[in-house]
Amino acid sequence: MKRILILNGPNLNLLGEREPDKYGNETLESINAWLTEEAKRIDTELTFFQSNVEGELVTAVQDGRTYDGIVINAGAYTHYSIAIRDAISAIDTPVVEVHLSNTDAREDFRHVSMLAGVCKGTIAGFGKDSYLLAILALL
Ligand code: DQA
Repeated sequence: MKRILILNGPNLNLLGEREPDKYGNETLESINAWLTEEAKRIDTELTFFQSNVEGELVTAVQDGRTYDGIVINAGAYTHYSIAIRDAISAIDTPVVEVHLSNTDAREDFRHVSMLAGVCKGTIAGFGKDSYLLAILALL
């Protein structure tokens, strides 16, 4: 059985009520429950962590090195966190960057990702399916 860590960054705890036109109506809890069931079908165990704090995400990436892979939606930190980038660079575990929205179709500042260059790949724009596609990419 594969073990994958799913990390979510700032404001993603407000999914369901936060800008539903961009991020949908589902809560993070509900997305995670759905992912857990989908992952079981592909013999994969998921562990979830969300934080609004950059340093906690850095530590979570470091601790994630014992997993088979990490899926990260770093929220706004994607666009400027060198600390999270360095944490991803520091570990050998493959990391996939995900976004619910298509960041390239939004404001210019969202077109830049500090993380993309050190991740295995990026999946953006498919809502909650972005997470599932990222999990499949890690198998
Ligand atoms: C996001 C896109 C980011 O630009 C934004 O800051 C978020 C959510 C997404 O999942 O689409 O918080 O990562």
